[in-house]
Amino acid sequence: MTTKPSKKFFEPLAIGAPLPNREVPVALERMVHFFPPHLEKIRAKLPEMIPQVDVLLGNLEDAIPADAKEAARKGFIAAAKANDFGSTGLWTRVNCLNSPWFLDDMTEIVGEVGDKLDVVMLPKVEGPWDIHYLDQLLAQLEARHGIKKPIQIHAILETALGVANVEAIAAASPRMHGMSLGPADLAASRGMKTTRVGGGHPSYGVLEDSRADGGARTLFQQDLWHYTVAKMVDACQAHGLKAFYGPFGDFSDDAACEAQFRNAFLLGCVGAWSLHPKQIDIAKKVFSPDVAEVLFAKRILDAMPDGTGAVMIDGKMQDDATWKQAKVIVDLARRVAA
Ligand code: GLV
Ligand code: MG
Repeated sequence: MTTKPSKKFFEPLAIGAPLPNREVPVALERMVHFFPPHLEKIRAKLPEMIPQVDVLLGNLEDAIPADAKEAARKGFIAAAKANDFGSTGLWTRVNCLNSPWFLDDMTEIVGEVGDKLDVVMLPKVEGPWDIHYLDQLLAQLEARHGIKKPIQIHAILETALGVANVEAIAAASPRMHGMSLGPADLAASRGMKTTRVGGGHPSYGVLEDSRADGGARTLFQQDLWHYTVAKMVDACQAHGLKAFYGPFGDFSDDAACEAQFRNAFLLGCVGAWSLHPKQIDIAKKVFSPDVAEVLFAKRILDAMPDGTGAVMIDGKMQDDATWKQAKVIVDLARRVAA
């Protein structure tokens, strides 16, 4: 017999109160911090790094030279064995499916440290068939090595075909954890005329109308990634997955990194990648809700205890729909405070 969800689920909760009973605990994943596992001196810093990040990811794919692929895989296994990750997630980005390294990445890593690995990030996913293949391979390796906790899959959305198939990718397996936008590979795959890792472009904009005084007109820069992020968020939310903005490669422009992360946060993403240690704090700031926003959201919840009706707060109308928006913000604040 199925029962209607109880109204209780919608009861507002105080900031810091325990999470309601959910089948899957909702982990905070504001940043996925990348490290190159073949570098001994970076591995030595991990015990200090682990408590500072929500997710730590050993990168085996792009940015790792071909002659260091094996060392990166071995370095990741050594780091996974040597460290206690506590509540920090442990992920790896493996090489793409048709590379000469993918199969060894999977068999060696799952065989050696599969019980410590939370998520496999799969690059250049083009359709559900890629996820089906990895899903079955993980099932085989988990069975062979007696791994009890299913390893999840996170897809990078970074080819034109992948974007076209985003819904089917999101629906491809119960192992799906979420998706990240990969703006660098996607730009190449789409034939975009850029040489950047994420962020905007000074020439991509809308020119203001001609001015009556004939003065110089302003080009209002637009967000190159708006369409894809929104499409990815919808596909993810429709299937209960998490959406992430990926990399921001200009380490000299923290303000632009923060702006790109904030657009993603406002559109529904839960986190972004940090490729440089200073991006950890940027992500922490952006993907944790603003205090003034949380206090306002709390007022909405308090004003409508059962989540229905309409009230005015500071001249603005609130109703069942803004109550749900407020709950998203307050729930996140509670997870950050926990
Ligand atoms: C990430 O992998 C990207 O291509 O942007
Ligand atoms: Mg890429």
